Amino acid sequence: MAIDDKVVKTLGELHVTDAAGVQALFAEVRVAMETESKDCERWRNQPPNALRNRWLARHNSILAQIDEHWRKTAPKELVPIVGREFNALKKEANDKLDVAIAEIKKAESPWARSGTGADRTQAPDLTLPGYCRSLGSIHPITRVQREMEDIFLGLGFAIETGPEVETVYYNFDALNIPESHPSRDDWDTLYVDAQTVLRTHTSPVQIRAMEKYGAPLYIVIPGKCYRNDKPDASHSPMFHQMEGLAVDVDITFADLKGTLDFFAKQFFGESVRLSFRPSFFPFTEPSGEVYVSCSICDGQGCSVCKQSGWIEVMGCGMVHPQVLRNGGIDPDRYAGWAFGLGIDRFAMIKYGIDDIQLFFQSDLRFLSQF
Ligand code: DAH
Repeated sequence: MAIDDKVVKTLGELHVTDAAGVQALFAEVRVAMETESKDCERWRNQPPNALRNRWLARHNSILAQIDEHWRKTAPKELVPIVGREFNALKKEANDKLDVAIAEIKKAESPWARSGTGADRTQAPDLTLPGYCRSLGSIHPITRVQREMEDIFLGLGFAIETGPEVETVYYNFDALNIPESHPSRDDWDTLYVDAQTVLRTHTSPVQIRAMEKYGAPLYIVIPGKCYRNDKPDASHSPMFHQMEGLAVDVDITFADLKGTLDFFAKQFFGESVRLSFRPSFFPFTEPSGEVYVSCSICDGQGCSVCKQSGWIEVMGCGMVHPQVLRNGGIDPDRYAGWAFGLGIDRFAMIKYGIDDIQLFFQSDLRFLSQF
């Protein structure tokens, strides 16, 4: 039985009835503590206090449970020995765990084992812990994307993806974006050749999905997008979007508002408020922009929301009838809503990051915080 299972049982339940049994039980705990405090793989990517908390935290730690389940409920004749063992164990844990944490940190340095300079001529100390190989962590953009996907999966949406190298037809024409629209210019779009672009948004997958699945359709489309933008704190030539599309009979703007409200509350927390403002996109009619109340100042006004209390987070609207038609869906029978949001922007707001470049510089000091 693992130590975690034993500490939730009483001595009686563990069939420990005499002093020798108590000592053997505490010896087992010591071995587990010793083994765990050398297990650098296990603690390497945890917060620095994880090992200490697991053993010594006031609530639910191994020692707290031993106190609760072994010491406080011990039969009278075992009270002195359990008390003694418990106090000794607590002292040992206090003395040893901090040393173990320091050793784990030290083992991350390749020089730690053999020392530097003159020391290196000496035989290595084989009793020191081995190298810890870093396991890495989930990239914050991936983390946020998965979180968004989970919310929509819970609402019955499916996840769809499409090509990053896209035809001009899907990226622009099928979405009702006319030849004269500025987004089609070389200044805004990265062209592979005259008919092929690096997609500037995830919206072309709306058309591809309508063609592929028809209606009814409930999908979200996460993925990379590309624009001819100079990198700065809020622009990157490669960034991430998530598109949403719902097509069905009797779909209204109210469905869009309800869905986005639910999504924002799940993502940012119950206290977030949404504001829908009229806007224009060629592929939706009517179109809107969605603002969320600033999570930094709670709508009071600060530098992040430029004193307005609101942050613009996405475009949305009712799918234009011509766009439905382009996807092979009859607009007289079906209606749809759509939205498009920047995953990077959501991640910046959620984690209070003020420079989008940080996501793409592969700096471990930044990435390892997630
Ligand atoms: N594709 C738009 C962009 O990149 C965002 C967008 C706006 C997507 C409105 C939509 C929408 O689906 O309905 O700026």
